[in-house]
Amino acid sequence: MTIKNMVGIMGWPIEHSLSPTMHNQAFKALSLDDWMYVRLPVNKYPYIRVKEAILGLRALSFKGANVTVPYKEAVLPYMEKLSEQAKLIQAINTISIDEGERLVGHNTDADGFAADLADKGMSISEIDALILGAGGAARAICVALLERGIKHLTIVNRTVQKADDLASYLKTHYIDRDIHSGPLDAEYIRHIPLRSLVVNCTSVGCFPNVNDMPWDENLAFSPSQIVYDTIYNPFETKLLAHAKKSGAKAFNGLGMLVHQGALSFKLWTGLDAPVEVMKQACVSLGKK
Ligand code: ATR
Repeated sequence: MTIKNMVGIMGWPIEHSLSPTMHNQAFKALSLDDWMYVRLPVNKYPYIRVKEAILGLRALSFKGANVTVPYKEAVLPYMEKLSEQAKLIQAINTISIDEGERLVGHNTDADGFAADLADKGMSISEIDALILGAGGAARAICVALLERGIKHLTIVNRTVQKADDLASYLKTHYIDRDIHSGPLDAEYIRHIPLRSLVVNCTSVGCFPNVNDMPWDENLAFSPSQIVYDTIYNPFETKLLAHAKKSGAKAFNGLGMLVHQGALSFKLWTGLDAPVEVMKQACVSLGKK
């Protein structure tokens, strides 16, 4: 069978990404034998390569791509069209190439995250949240929560200016909400009201730096809190182990990975993704 439809994942580093296996298993399950999903590592230096890589997708007749760390915001200027959600989030994780060969930027992270919270029985309008990080993933998650009615949101980040900028931006769109920002440090976090949901949107704790944690060891969680780490490699980050020790509920980013992937799959193929197949593909890879 000739491969006619190529898609892939662009980022750096991406050798440990589960997305290629997840999508290739999905193609197989639906007998889409002329589709293939590949790794597209784009070295961080020099940064100009991002532009070359994006334009290369069209030249190489790709159907689209996923975009991951650290390029979710960097690829925006090269998109020829943006979905409404990508415009709002100002970061993209999915590119499709339309009939007119235009590069179209989408963001499926927000809806993927919300779908996973729904799977876990969480009602977003009833929670308040503390977001760790202010990059592309944080932008998508803040929008997912605000779109679904969250009233109180605090964003903390190592680079405080980025958290402040994101909070100011969100306040212009969601004027009736309580949105705050500050530094990612124990002193600040200790003094804000207890948030029922804490989401790690930083890359701290991700393989290979599995002994790192974006949270002070001396800061315990409450058993009433839910800690969600968008990282899925390892399945249990140091942050999640720490949350469990305090009696809090802990979830990793596997569900979000699967749901955002399922939405990207639909954008490229026009078909509903076999979500359960994708989930099992990730779970079995994680066990290896
Ligand atoms: P993504 O698109 O996946 O969100 P990103 O835009 O590169 O990736 O954002 C990464 C996030 O992880 C940022 O919030 C970053 O903090 P800075 O804005 O200060 O760079 C955070 N991050 C990365 N490494 C970190 C570290 N060692 N300590 C604390 N935060 C870190």
